Amino acid sequence: MPTALVTGPATGIGRAFADKLALEGYDLVLVSRDEARLKEVAADITRLHDVECEVLAADLTDAADLARVEERFRTGPIELLVNNAGFGQKKPFWENPVEVEEKQLDLLVRVVLRLTHAAVLPMIERGSGAVINVSSVAGFLQRNIYSAHKAWVTSFSAGLATGLHAQGVAVMALCPGFVHTEFHERMGMDKSLIPSFMWLDADELVAAAWKDLQRGKAISIPSRRYKLLMVAARFTPRALIARVSTVGLDGRRPASSAAKSRGE
Ligand SMILES: NC(=O)c1ccc[n+]([C@@H]2O[C@H](COP(=O)([O-])OP(=O)(O)OC[C@H]3O[C@@H](n4cnc5c(N)ncnc54)[C@H](OP(=O)(O)O)[C@@H]3O)[C@@H](O)[C@H]2O)c1
Repeated sequence: MPTALVTGPATGIGRAFADKLALEGYDLVLVSRDEARLKEVAADITRLHDVECEVLAADLTDAADLARVEERFRTGPIELLVNNAGFGQKKPFWENPVEVEEKQLDLLVRVVLRLTHAAVLPMIERGSGAVINVSSVAGFLQRNIYSAHKAWVTSFSAGLATGLHAQGVAVMALCPGFVHTEFHERMGMDKSLIPSFMWLDADELVAAAWKDLQRGKAISIPSRRYKLLMVAARFTPRALIARVSTVGLDGRRPASSAAKSRGE
């Protein structure tokens, strides 16, 4: 049986990946912070599918925990990595403590880089394997600093896909639009501000992503509506994109610039 390591598999998109991969016959290594929740997921999955589930509780922004997860790629073969763990922030960059901004940068960028590196070295030696990095359509827009991190994930994955194709290793950036998960509740965003047609279902998203991986795509944008929106975004003025793409986020300006515009 091949083995897949999924980060953030207790909820949302990660959980949908864990279910899909178990259905496809993968043994699983489940990685996130809440060990009790991971054990529940492992019990659910092993009840439904004839696969093994290993629980690896880790805060990926903690150096020692991250090193333990990297070590797992050396102790037994991992044929598929899904870099999925992440969180968003409602407040603008300047209103968050810099430590929180650093944590987000760590989880969305540095952890993706480190785990991809740990995963692809043995995959190159074996001449096979795949990495799915969960990015976002936000990476094509200007939605807070989150967009910058996800733009990096998409570019990083597409670049690696080209470089590693000849070595038998597939890399794909998955770029979802809005998906019903715990993501928006965790960041305190009012989901009712987003029109209902823009929401995707996590299981459908993952099914579409899985097909795109089999087709050898380097960038997957599930659903026709988001494919069309992303094409339209290329021809829309940057200032308009910036305004529309901050829906649901706190858009307050720094105190000094707000005061300036009030003439103080
Ligand atoms: N939902 C959307 O609309 C949407 C759209 C585009 C892209 N995405 C991306 O999709 C990915 C999954 O998000 P989701 O929507 O499924 O959100 P979610 O339901 O909130 O899941 C996020 C997962 O990440 C784990 N996690 C968070 N911090 C972690 C840490 N420091 N170490 C280890 N695990 C950590 C969480 O588990 P613990 O709390 O137990 O650690 C949780 O299982 C993220 O990368 C997100 O940016 C989401």
